[in-house]
Amino acid sequence: MTNPPKILKTERLRLRKAKLSDAEAIFRQYANDPEVTKYVSWRAHRNLEETREYMRMCALAWDIGKAFHWVIETQDSKQVIGMMIARVNAEKWELGFVLARAFWGRGYMTEAVNALIAWALKQKEIYRVWAVCDIDNKASARVMEKVGMQREGTLHRWSLHPNLSPEPRDSYCYAITK
Ligand SMILES: CC(C)(COP(=O)(O)OP(=O)(O)OC[C@H]1O[C@@H](n2cnc3c(N)ncnc32)[C@H](O)[C@@H]1OP(=O)(O)O)[C@@H](O)C(=O)NCCC(=O)NCCS
Repeated sequence: MTNPPKILKTERLRLRKAKLSDAEAIFRQYANDPEVTKYVSWRAHRNLEETREYMRMCALAWDIGKAFHWVIETQDSKQVIGMMIARVNAEKWELGFVLARAFWGRGYMTEAVNALIAWALKQKEIYRVWAVCDIDNKASARVMEKVGMQREGTLHRWSLHPNLSPEPRDSYCYAITK
């Protein structure tokens, strides 16, 4: 099983293994923001307890090696501003990412995704890093293009984005391989 880094530093950011006590910051920063959660696969959190429950699931998933969740902090303020997720399926890692709205448009997620891909593709057992995004999620698609992922196609009716529609939506599939 791949042993993921508990901390991954970039020029301006620090990705750190998520912990239960991050729930307050995540709830305050973005978990119930309708703009941030528009295209995500989970329902916007209605209260802090829902974020805590999510953090418990993250801890469990890390322990069993199913998925790794890092909070994204700025190096200077150590403030939690987002999250990076890697879901593991043997030699394929699927990424997910989210950032509080106040920090959009500064290249932060491009920096974070770049760092994670660089780390992942250095691991002997990881050959493919991929992600999907709603076909209308322009910012997410752009991040993936900027980090060198290739758009492999459209996955019809692929993912449920419950804050947007009760029906599964079309998604673009992006990947980078070695
Ligand atoms: C997707 C997300 C993580 C991007 O984070 P970010 O730090 O703002 O991303 P960056 O600043 O690194 O890059 C964003 C790019 O998208 C572009 N962009 C943003 N909104 C856009 C829009 N509506 N149309 C076209 N391009 C857009 C930006 O201009 C920038 O590209 P550029 O550098 O070529 O100008 C952030 O918007 C977010 O958290 N969204 C909500 C959660 C989400 O959708 N996550 C992804 C689920 S698949």
